Amino acid sequence: MEEGPKLIQHSQLNSVWPEVNFPFLLAPMVGLSHVALRELVRDYLPSNARTIWPTEMLNSRRLPTQRVGETPETKISQRDSDLVPQILGNNERFISESIKRLQHLNIAGVDINMGCPVAKALKHNYGVALMGDPEYASSVVAMAKRATDLPVSVKLRVGLQKDQQYFDEFCQGLVDAGARMLCLHPRTAEQKRKGNADWSQIADLKKKVTVPIIGNGDVQVWQDAVRMLEETGCDGVMMGRALTARPWIFWQLGESLGFSTPPGREGERAPQGPEEESKEFGRVIIKYVDYCFKYFETTYALRKIKFYLRVSTPWLNFGHYLCKKLNKCQTPEEYRQVCEEFFGKDGLLLAPFTNLTY
Ligand SMILES: Cc1cc2nc3c(=O)[nH]c(=O)nc-3n(C[C@H](O)[C@H](O)[C@H](O)COP(=O)(O)O)c2cc1C
Repeated sequence: MEEGPKLIQHSQLNSVWPEVNFPFLLAPMVGLSHVALRELVRDYLPSNARTIWPTEMLNSRRLPTQRVGETPETKISQRDSDLVPQILGNNERFISESIKRLQHLNIAGVDINMGCPVAKALKHNYGVALMGDPEYASSVVAMAKRATDLPVSVKLRVGLQKDQQYFDEFCQGLVDAGARMLCLHPRTAEQKRKGNADWSQIADLKKKVTVPIIGNGDVQVWQDAVRMLEETGCDGVMMGRALTARPWIFWQLGESLGFSTPPGREGERAPQGPEEESKEFGRVIIKYVDYCFKYFETTYALRKIKFYLRVSTPWLNFGHYLCKKLNKCQTPEEYRQVCEEFFGKDGLLLAPFTNLTY
């Protein structure tokens, strides 16, 4: 690693992507991890930091008939690089054709979803259902490998139910089939997003396999990401919900680890404390709205804004009130006006930022 402090020097992520020096990642999230959210989070990436970026989960049965790069889920910006799209699938023809199409986006790798627990995934034997069939899951990795020379990674849960030996063998099978990185969200399929993510599973997996391990689950503040690196020895930390509400976590982490400020924020400190964070959230909403209107047609933009607000506003005291008001807006100007009223130009009406209870 180029210059990073001790905490991140151990990260093996650059054994897969040599240019990556910032071991913190946005999570793939359906309906959220599209170009507008990537643009928003990228605004907070230190200017000398480089990481990999996800897409939403993309269905390999649909990609072959789509205009990749033109659908809202596959749109990219001029800044989008180091993209590792996530695909959902279990059929070689579809996986191969999907990867071929995705390569037009100048991607850096392909991630396979083995964590999606929704009923449809279980019924069609993809997503987390693949965790019920180790041999087949490994063969899905092999299918992807045959379609590309780029690194193939897998994002998975600890299983359908908890069974340590089974899980260890399952992961080794993926590595033997050629997976270059595993990302673990340590909940079972049954748990969905309930209960706590069991970080000790991340530490355990890191000891057992040779490829880089990305830990994921329940990071709320930048200190949690540092704690996950320290406690588990993982090679990188992936964050989902927290980065929708606090995209400035990338800035805070960068600041604490000696990276530069994000572009355009030179001379500023990352927001700290509930009030500064709250103020930044006001700016974040406006930025996100502008990106949605820039990249999507109006109806779709409004839908993506609504969903984003549902996920991110619970982190703000009185967020439900703000969300209700914003959900009536139709234009960027209306969103801007509500944000200015709520957050107050002078910060007097500021509602402090908070954490979720899982
Ligand atoms: C709205 C939403 C959509 C998600 N969609 C995906 C997905 O497409 N692929 C995936 O691997 N995980 C998906 N996840 C799971 C996240 O990537 C992540 O594993 C989970 O939210 C735990 O991380 P967090 O506590 O940092 O949010 C989704 C989560 C949320 C909240």
